[in-house]
Amino acid sequence: MQQESLSKQLDLSSLLHDVSSSFRATSLVLNQIIDGAYGHSLEEIRPFLKGLQEMNERGLGLVDRRTPFLEPNLTTLVQFDMLDILQKQYFQYKVIAQYHSLNLHYETQVTYKHGTQVQGDSISIDRMLCNLLTNAIKYTIEGDIFLRLLNQEDDLVIEIEDIGCGIPAEQLSNIFIPFWRSSQNISDKPGIGMGLYIAWIVAYAHGLSMRVDSVTKQGTKFTIIFPYKGDGIYGVDGRMCLK
Ligand SMILES: Nc1ncnc2c1ncn2[C@@H]1O[C@H](COP(=O)(O)OP(=O)(O)OP(=O)(O)O)[C@@H](O)[C@H]1O
Ligand SMILES: [Mg+2]
Repeated sequence: MQQESLSKQLDLSSLLHDVSSSFRATSLVLNQIIDGAYGHSLEEIRPFLKGLQEMNERGLGLVDRRTPFLEPNLTTLVQFDMLDILQKQYFQYKVIAQYHSLNLHYETQVTYKHGTQVQGDSISIDRMLCNLLTNAIKYTIEGDIFLRLLNQEDDLVIEIEDIGCGIPAEQLSNIFIPFWRSSQNISDKPGIGMGLYIAWIVAYAHGLSMRVDSVTKQGTKFTIIFPYKGDGIYGVDGRMCLK
């Protein structure tokens, strides 16, 4: 019973976390549009308005969804093109990175061994990537951030790499614990320590491997591996389907 109520609380905290991140990002871009940062004509600002609309829909999609986040099930599984999700995220986060004087780079291969179709819960996978990108921006003071989609042998791999403050080696085992934050690098950074927990839960529920490499004062790289399942599809393993 206690376990059930704890899991409901985490589910709610994670929902609030991601909905408020989405509103915060929308508000930041909206303020820039109002300040004329992207131009003054409708034609100039239209792509940014489109980005805003997508961010807004992300927030609404989370609120409208009835399935509890921590219990993904077969009804939320869809097939989608990973390039579509990443392209949208690149456009939205490039603007946020620029606001923080950072450069977000998007690197893809010309071709992929088995295409880029993934089977999974696209809303949750989007949340996982948003949280990793938000962190890369938040914990980097200046320089570059990389979002990559590549093949490693038969698998499809996303890398999110920053050249920010890094995470001390002795703390790496804590980073996926809900509400944990490093005392080393958060002094002026807002947050509650939910982003990586959400990212980890999504990866676990889909049977994806998530790896982190980090060196203090040099940067951090998150690698997410979508295993090839055959028939031109990468994604979930049996764990999620069993729920
Ligand atoms: N890319 C990164 N570079 C350096 N440290 C990081 C990075 N990502 C996460 N961390 C560290 O891991 C901690 C946990 O990250 P997490 O995303 O869960 O929480 P948060 O960013 O502090 O807050 P929230 O995501 O809830 O807004 C962070 O507080 C930070 O100390
Ligand atoms: Mg975070």
